[in-house]
Amino acid sequence: MPKYIFPPLASRLKSLIHAGQFIKNPFPILDAALARFGSTYTFYMGGMQKAVITIDPKAVRHILQKQHRVYEKSVIVTDLLGKYTGKGLLTSTGDYWLRQRRLIQPGFHKRRIDSLQSLMKVEVDACMDRWAPMAASGTPFDAYEEMNHLTFRIVARTLFSTSLEEHGLVQLSQQISTLQSFIIREVRQPYKRWWFKISGKIKEHLLLAKESREIIRDVIRARKNSGEAPDDLLTMLLESRYEDSGMGMEEEQLIDECLILFVAGHETSANALSWMIYLLGKHEEELNRLQAADSALQAKMIQNVVQEGLRLYPPAWVSDRISLQDDHVEGFFLPKDTMWILYIRGMHRHPHFWKEPDLFIPDRWNDPDLNKEAYMPFGSGPRMCIGEHFAIMEMQLILTEIIRHWDIKLISKEINEKPLVTLRPLEPVMITIHSVQAH
Ligand code: HEM
Repeated sequence: MPKYIFPPLASRLKSLIHAGQFIKNPFPILDAALARFGSTYTFYMGGMQKAVITIDPKAVRHILQKQHRVYEKSVIVTDLLGKYTGKGLLTSTGDYWLRQRRLIQPGFHKRRIDSLQSLMKVEVDACMDRWAPMAASGTPFDAYEEMNHLTFRIVARTLFSTSLEEHGLVQLSQQISTLQSFIIREVRQPYKRWWFKISGKIKEHLLLAKESREIIRDVIRARKNSGEAPDDLLTMLLESRYEDSGMGMEEEQLIDECLILFVAGHETSANALSWMIYLLGKHEEELNRLQAADSALQAKMIQNVVQEGLRLYPPAWVSDRISLQDDHVEGFFLPKDTMWILYIRGMHRHPHFWKEPDLFIPDRWNDPDLNKEAYMPFGSGPRMCIGEHFAIMEMQLILTEIIRHWDIKLISKEINEKPLVTLRPLEPVMITIHSVQAH
């Protein structure tokens, strides 16, 4: 019999008592236990499922990178999401995933993504035009809603150029947003699944997913028939060939991958941008410095704001894995089927790794000796975010255009975190804007 060495165990009774609070906002409970037990401990999630949670960067890299073959994504989110979106990169596993990742990876190379900047810019410019009347009248609006809208349109535009007309785009956006809200309900209220089933809710949403697939199918077929190959992600997906067979993807696979790019690629960026706008609104002195800087310095400062924003509010605040065999991890020895919770937000804010961890200090990224070991907003290892360059370029572009056009006044006071599948602002991020030129 192997002698397992488990990390310290947090009281199950306490977890059970705090289960309600945990579902609302797990951070205070997780952070208090980290302070008590150290960077890795065992606990019962909501008092029910045993899991090991860690903020230790070495343990996280062991799981995601060094020994990634021994760890599989848990099915909690991937199966639920996959039920509606199909087998795209985010939801597939094993050999199928690897073959798809190898196929698609070159299309997300930095140089190829750079060429999408002009497509992104069209949507950012349209957004700035849309904001002008609100600036003129001083009408407050929710930056989160605006960012959600903008990042969805950016994925649509970089995927399909102009092949998806406005009506289809609006439909697709509504369908995907409805689906995402429902998936979150299914994840958070597993006890209601029976009700979702018998009340026809699941069927209704499966039908919605099918409608989204049909919209994408029409775009793919029209593109193929047109014989055109604009410089966009769809062309990249259509032209990619498997190394072994020299063939391209089937139509259903293409649809799966397009759908997953919408899901993985718009809400994460929207969350991050909303938090960054909130942080800049809260720290007027940073905003003023940014606006006063020349363009080279401004670009560097915006890069710092993006990194610092992702540190404080990582949209992918948590990741999970299940071990496929017994394994030694940083002094512990754990059995097969151990559920690991990789608590990225906790790592990003721990005083052991960061000076003044809860403060927004974009300039910390100027320090050449800054230890970035405990920084993983895009994950690590072979399943790391394929859209990292895309997201960074997109966020920098949007922030640059915002601060060049507008002064931001934050109307909301403190905004709390809403940790669902991604880390959203709990309250609307209400701002007013005024034209910079108006001064
Ligand atoms: C700020 C924005 C973003 C953040 C913080 C983010 C973060 C992440 C993280 C942490 C993962 C890995 C999850 C895990 O290992 O469990 C991931 C995977 C993924 N992301 Fe992103 N992401 C962002 C934007 C994007 C964008 C813009 C796209 C596409 C255009 C994208 C596409 C994907 C895909 C397809 C995967 C699955 C990769 C695979 O498993 O092979 N993401 N993302």
